[in-house]
Amino acid sequence: MAAMLLLVATLVALGSGRGDAFDPNPLQDFCVADTTSKVRVNGLSCKDPAAVVPDDFFFSGVDKPGGTTSKRYGFSALAVPIPGLNTLGQSHARVDVAPGGVFPPHYHPRAAETAVVLEGSVYFGFLSSYPDNKLFAKVLRKGDVFAVPQGLVHFLYNNGTAPAAIYATLSSQNPGLVLLGDALFAGALPDDLLAKTLLTDKHTVEHIAANFRRS
Ligand SMILES: *[C@@H]1O[C@H](CO)[C@@H](O)[C@H](O)[C@H]1NC(C)=O
Repeated sequence: MAAMLLLVATLVALGSGRGDAFDPNPLQDFCVADTTSKVRVNGLSCKDPAAVVPDDFFFSGVDKPGGTTSKRYGFSALAVPIPGLNTLGQSHARVDVAPGGVFPPHYHPRAAETAVVLEGSVYFGFLSSYPDNKLFAKVLRKGDVFAVPQGLVHFLYNNGTAPAAIYATLSSQNPGLVLLGDALFAGALPDDLLAKTLLTDKHTVEHIAANFRRS
């Protein structure tokens, strides 16, 4: 009887989720984003399925860096725009990190992440949550893959001498991004609160915050 219950529970668990995504399950094969529509559903509204073409599921150019660049940190991030991924619980990006550059500690509140190294070598890792704050990190090379559980703080550090690039897949269409440094110092938190949070004095906080509030 107990074995039977366990089997049923396992089947229910296996059948009830896609396992890799927490966004809602789609109700049709695809919902190619109609970027011209002003109607918003949970995601972008769908293009007429009869008008969907292979190019709606295609993007060419992840062999090169692109997108937005952070001079401060030495990385660039290119969100891969595939309209056919709308409502499918995924997003993808190429991230380049220059020698000496970092994608600083951050987390995605709504997504787990898997990264494949396309070029170079990078020190990549994540921290478990409080109270352990245990570091799980590795030096990754071309062809290596590393996974980051949902919501955990992670980083990329190119401490080598050659440019590094990764291809990241996130398990949400809208993963969200919280950069720890910005969350603390670029925002509106009062310096005295920050000083108490960081177990330091206001002068030290002002010194660090000046770099974040300059832009
Ligand atoms: C980068 O940092 C990691 C962790 O400290 C270290 O294991 C690795 O050897 C470093 N790589 C280089 C090229 O210095």
